[in-house]
Amino acid sequence: MNLATRVEKLAPYLFVDITKKIVEKQARGEDVISFAIGDPDMATPSHIIERMCQAAADPVNHRYPETIGLPELHGAIAEWYEKRFKVVLNPETEVLPLIGSKEGIGHMSLCLIDHGDMALVTDPGYPVYSMSTIIAGGVPHFIPLKEENDFLPDFDSISDNVAAKARVMWLNYPNNPTGASTDVGFFEKAVWFARRHDLAICHDNPYSEVFFEGLEPPSFLQAPGAREVGVEFHSLSKTYHMTGWRIGMVVGNPAMIDALFRIKSNLDSGIPQAIQQAAIEALHGPQECIAEHNGILQRRRDKLTTALAQAGLGVKVPKATFFVWAKIPPGHSSVDFTKRLLDEAGIAVTPGIGYGQEGEGYIRLSLTIPDDRLEKGIERLLGWCRGGR
Ligand SMILES: Cc1ncc(COP(=O)(O)O)c(C=O)c1O
Repeated sequence: MNLATRVEKLAPYLFVDITKKIVEKQARGEDVISFAIGDPDMATPSHIIERMCQAAADPVNHRYPETIGLPELHGAIAEWYEKRFKVVLNPETEVLPLIGSKEGIGHMSLCLIDHGDMALVTDPGYPVYSMSTIIAGGVPHFIPLKEENDFLPDFDSISDNVAAKARVMWLNYPNNPTGASTDVGFFEKAVWFARRHDLAICHDNPYSEVFFEGLEPPSFLQAPGAREVGVEFHSLSKTYHMTGWRIGMVVGNPAMIDALFRIKSNLDSGIPQAIQQAAIEALHGPQECIAEHNGILQRRRDKLTTALAQAGLGVKVPKATFFVWAKIPPGHSSVDFTKRLLDEAGIAVTPGIGYGQEGEGYIRLSLTIPDDRLEKGIERLLGWCRGGR
């Protein structure tokens, strides 16, 4: 049997490898404290679960859903965008529910990329932007995110030659893995860049509700002209701790959304309807859970960033996302440092190189770890440092 060459070009998904190593250690009876994966440890709020259970018992939800999603869900997403960002969307043409935003991001590359086309992908970045480009037969061109530029891309440094070949630019603020955030002014520059070079912008915004100190990160669609050039992916995963339920959305440019619907309707059969009902409840229901979660994450952030600084790592305190992006001491590669942390201290983190070449020299730690485990992890980290690492 011969597998398609596109499979050979794909690196294994970052977390598959990390999870495997953690599971192997645990099977040997070792206690691993994992800061590696950004998956909320706190439960989905109970009113959302109750709605889902109720909907699961209704036979109308036992049949195939439609790929397009329930009209009530389109409406709830549009209302949420208007309330949160003052962005008014046409629920029929400018909203499409997704089986988690990862699914939509992956399939959007099939809408934009023909064989040999280029996609501009920020580095370090969420791996799905470049991997989906490769799956679609395209070539990712990496745009560095430098600490001295607050981890924002420098549009002026992208040559006309490169921009002319690109069909799309992927952006993500608040950013995974750097924790950087931005403002509407930056998105205005992105719209200008897209118009100048006739390319699409895909902005990925799943962390807009994970913020501290009143930041309230904006939507790309708040920039004038944004929906003429692009879309925004969003998700209920991080906002309502619904990673396991798999539900997200894409909003914005109607032609891009219609293209994605055409691809999806040929490949998937939509989101289970009980989960769509739960999502409607999440978007319409009480929102206090968001501030509660952010309060807990902020306390964890403060403890962890203080400890990392004491351990001699360079940290900028993130104002959004549940990620801490820490600079490791010189003389280590991010993979070596990560391996030593795991083997010598029983602490799992992700090596920066896993997010691209520009991630070398950094590690990413996630705050989605229960308080007692976080405290224990900090103790171990500081003990490991005192022992001369
Ligand atoms: C930047 C970014 N985009 C998208 C996703 C995917 O989220 P979802 O659960 O909606 O598929 C993640 C998940 O970790 C992420 O970090």
